[in-house]
Amino acid sequence: MAEDWATRTLRVGIVGLGWTGWTHLKGYQQIADVEVVALAGFEADRLAQYGREFTVPDLYRDYQDLLARDDLDAISICTPNQLHAPVAIAALRGGRHVLCEKPLARSGAEAAGMVAAAREAGRVLHTVFNHRARGDVMALKHFIDEGGLGRIYHAKSSWMRRNGIPTLGSWFTNKEMAGGGPLIDLGVHMLDLALYLTGEPEIATVSAATYAELGPRGRGGRADAFGPKHGSGSNYEVEDLATAFLRAADGATIALEASWAVYGSAGDDFGVTLFGTEGGAEIRVVNYNQEDTLRIFIDVAGRPSEVRPQLARGEGHLAVLREFLATIRSGEWAGHHGEDGLRRAQIIEACYASAQAGREVVVGSGQ
Ligand SMILES: NC(=O)c1ccc[n+]([C@@H]2O[C@H](COP(=O)([O-])OP(=O)(O)OC[C@H]3O[C@@H](n4cnc5c(N)ncnc54)[C@H](O)[C@@H]3O)[C@@H](O)[C@H]2O)c1
Repeated sequence: MAEDWATRTLRVGIVGLGWTGWTHLKGYQQIADVEVVALAGFEADRLAQYGREFTVPDLYRDYQDLLARDDLDAISICTPNQLHAPVAIAALRGGRHVLCEKPLARSGAEAAGMVAAAREAGRVLHTVFNHRARGDVMALKHFIDEGGLGRIYHAKSSWMRRNGIPTLGSWFTNKEMAGGGPLIDLGVHMLDLALYLTGEPEIATVSAATYAELGPRGRGGRADAFGPKHGSGSNYEVEDLATAFLRAADGATIALEASWAVYGSAGDDFGVTLFGTEGGAEIRVVNYNQEDTLRIFIDVAGRPSEVRPQLARGEGHLAVLREFLATIRSGEWAGHHGEDGLRRAQIIEACYASAQAGREVVVGSGQ
């Protein structure tokens, strides 16, 4: 069977037709020996258009019909967050491998259910953390792994938007459908980068605060360039700014901040700053630029110095798809059951619990 996974053309179904569904679809087309054979989503026009443009034979409105097929090897989940767990668990139980958009789930319990399903089925469950495959992040990770920063003891990680609520009244601003606001949406990317770059420290406690100052007053909304979002019809129910302080068991700390809308200097900007015993580093991305985003701070001949490496552009989502498929083909699936997505879901859940309680909480304890 392992040989079979290694060589045959893999058949994929994608659920969701928004920017992410389109990005997965486009990405799979660029990889050899994989076919997207089925799509599901509510937008009939997009479904027909993608079917034609990308030669996808089978198109469904309801994801259940896509999952009912018995000839798919893998599923990409590109739906609103509340569907990640039910779609993934059904797909895994049906023997499919699953690539799930971030966040893995709305809560630690939901994510744990997905990981358990992946382990029981013996299938791959990966979460899309596409920013790991930026050129600056890959170069910095390489430098860190060579010991360039020494021991990293503090990180600051943030994503801030001036005016970027992804459509007021869409599923993004509905607590039940999204699980939260910018913390679970943008903050999960920045939490991921901080943990990934600093070697996955075990986060023991968090202290967080959330605010909803602009969204509930109808301010800070941005129309989605990709078309209208699947709606919820509800009011603005989530935070528009979150700030959190995370303590690792080994004493390292992370300051995390995420916002969709604030009165401040940000456009749509994210970045990570790392402080280590042998050096420091800063990635600062303004409005998704890819040029001159990484600075490394070290001493040269005893003098404070700054290095700005020349970087290749990373592949983002395409690299994530390649890694997912390569993992399936490898037949080595232990440790690929969604564990990193679960850890991030538990930390974010603890942040929301802390914000609600108004005090520091222990991760995974519910208090
Ligand atoms: N990795 C990234 O950089 C990135 C960027 C944006 C969004 N995301 C994530 O991707 C996911 C989707 O976000 P989006 O912006 O593409 O959303 P979107 O609202 O644009 O698209 C959601 C799609 O899901 C479909 N859908 C909803 N319910 C369905 C059902 N029951 N059956 C079939 N289809 C259904 C909708 O028809 C729509 O096509 C979210 O989890 C989000 O957090 C990731």
